[in-house]
Amino acid sequence: CGIIGRVGTDQALESLLTGLENLEYRGYDSAGIAVQNGAGIKIQKRSGNVSELKQSLDSSLLTGEVGIGHTRWSTHGPPTDENAHPHTDSTEDVAVVHNGIIENYSELKADLRAEGHQFTSDTDTEVIPHLIQRYLDRGMDSEAAFRRSVDDLEGSYALAAMVADEHVLYAARQGSPLVVGLGQDDGVFLASDVPAFLEYTDTVVYLEDGDVAIVRPEGVEFTDLEGRLIERTPETIQWDPEAVGKGEYPHFMLKEIHEQPTSLAQAIEGRLDVERDEVYLGSFPPGRFEDIDRIQFVACGTSYHAALYGSIAMNRSGLQTSVHLANEYSVCAPPVDERTLVIAVTQSGETADTLGAMRRAAAGGARILTVTNVIGSTAARNADDVLLIRAGPEIGVAATKTFSAQAVMLLLLAQRLADDIVGEAAVGGDSMLADIRALPERFEGVLEDGTAKTLAESYLESQSFFFIGRGLGYPVALEGALKFKEITYEHAEGFASGELKHGPLALVTPDTPVFAIFTGQEDEKVLANAEEAHTRGAPVIAVCHEGHPATDIADGHLEIPDVDSSLAGLLANVQLQLLSYHAADRLGRPIDKPRNLAKSVTVE
Ligand code: G6P
Repeated sequence: CGIIGRVGTDQALESLLTGLENLEYRGYDSAGIAVQNGAGIKIQKRSGNVSELKQSLDSSLLTGEVGIGHTRWSTHGPPTDENAHPHTDSTEDVAVVHNGIIENYSELKADLRAEGHQFTSDTDTEVIPHLIQRYLDRGMDSEAAFRRSVDDLEGSYALAAMVADEHVLYAARQGSPLVVGLGQDDGVFLASDVPAFLEYTDTVVYLEDGDVAIVRPEGVEFTDLEGRLIERTPETIQWDPEAVGKGEYPHFMLKEIHEQPTSLAQAIEGRLDVERDEVYLGSFPPGRFEDIDRIQFVACGTSYHAALYGSIAMNRSGLQTSVHLANEYSVCAPPVDERTLVIAVTQSGETADTLGAMRRAAAGGARILTVTNVIGSTAARNADDVLLIRAGPEIGVAATKTFSAQAVMLLLLAQRLADDIVGEAAVGGDSMLADIRALPERFEGVLEDGTAKTLAESYLESQSFFFIGRGLGYPVALEGALKFKEITYEHAEGFASGELKHGPLALVTPDTPVFAIFTGQEDEKVLANAEEAHTRGAPVIAVCHEGHPATDIADGHLEIPDVDSSLAGLLANVQLQLLSYHAADRLGRPIDKPRNLAKSVTVE
């Protein structure tokens, strides 16, 4: 879900709506706004997305200089008008927006009901304004009532509250992100993520767990739950405000696919010396990891595929690694100790499953390294070391440019870790670093190829789409299938190509196109597996370089340059991103906001 809040000396509505539009990637099944102008709190909210809210709202009612807004990804209660945020107490003197889950809401609700409070929604959030009202009724001032209410909550939350006729917002954070934006003349902002207000200010302060912020037009005060003042230092965000717009592209996803040459160039800048075959990763001096003897990856979704890519590359260098879905880690984590490095791969740095796995690993004594795109994110702050992927903001729910930046950063990290731990680097061939330096240009070349669009159209009627690969082609097959199902809503599966014959082959028919990824490693085996499907009538589309033997049997060909086998999969992935995009576009899907999904899932 997305939170925006704004306190200023002029009308808040426009910047609140801009904030909600910029946050929609965090959830889009309902939305709402509350504004106050000295004559009580005015709220408009509904199920549906922000543009539906915008069309239906009566802006003449929403006048005022203080306001909060929310765009929701439902957890407790379906996406109805009643369950949309902001929520209020019965008198509508308090309004609250909230991300996260209040675990003890049933008990709190029962207590409040016993005191005469009445509830109108199924949400956990609604208890919060009622709690604040309870303490106001007991004679506390608003600040004290807010703190006392927060103290009653168990679970995870980022919340923003306002009290009628006060020119102030109250905010608190525990396990769910919240950041303050210090505008010059545009007021002070509060949001779950920086893109919400980036066009107004790039000066931000991230709240930490347990922080309370009291936000006024002239500035912000930070305290702990007891009200003791806390020092928090502002940071400047390096992102370009234009990066949160679509520019000339019809969708963020297409824009972000095309941004990859730039985002990769940014990611690798200053980090490799091809002549000396050296990798420089910021704060990691040589020897930093020499006491590590095993590596575990934790991640979810697309980041899990990047982690798998990194892990395979590290295994090739002689490092001992394992890869874990972060949400499974709590039940099946292998043992860790102080010689274990746990690498959390997370674009947003806020995925609750990944944060949970990190906490568990840290409790067992492991060292934590976060690979992320967001500098002040919780995962970055909770780690011993951070490797930034510098991909710039990614708004499309389906991750694209962050996958390639993560994978390339993990290849560099593999080299760095191998130097420290096994004393030599053998991730790719001799040309790997030179090929990485040339990668942005290679990506340009693939992006100019129009074949994926034509191919997407030819197979639109198919029943199911299979993606197969081996070695570093395997995570790419998984990622190709994930992207395809996320945005086209068609059934797609990724397999290790050798597994096809152990079951999935039973599903193969002329209606199941098989996209086979050739990275240059044991391609003859991938080809044999593709042929097994082809013989049974499946169309085969080879993702490989020109002149590759696979093109002789394939029904279609998505071309990639002939590069080091550690990088070929990343170029194949670009072709598959384009394939998914164009298929979804032809099917008329809401590409940037696929149903039921959200970009950043901050609940477990
Ligand atoms: C959500 C998104 C995915 C993303 C995953 C992990 O499910 O829809 O696109 O890959 O979270 O996100 P992270 O921010 O941890 O990389």
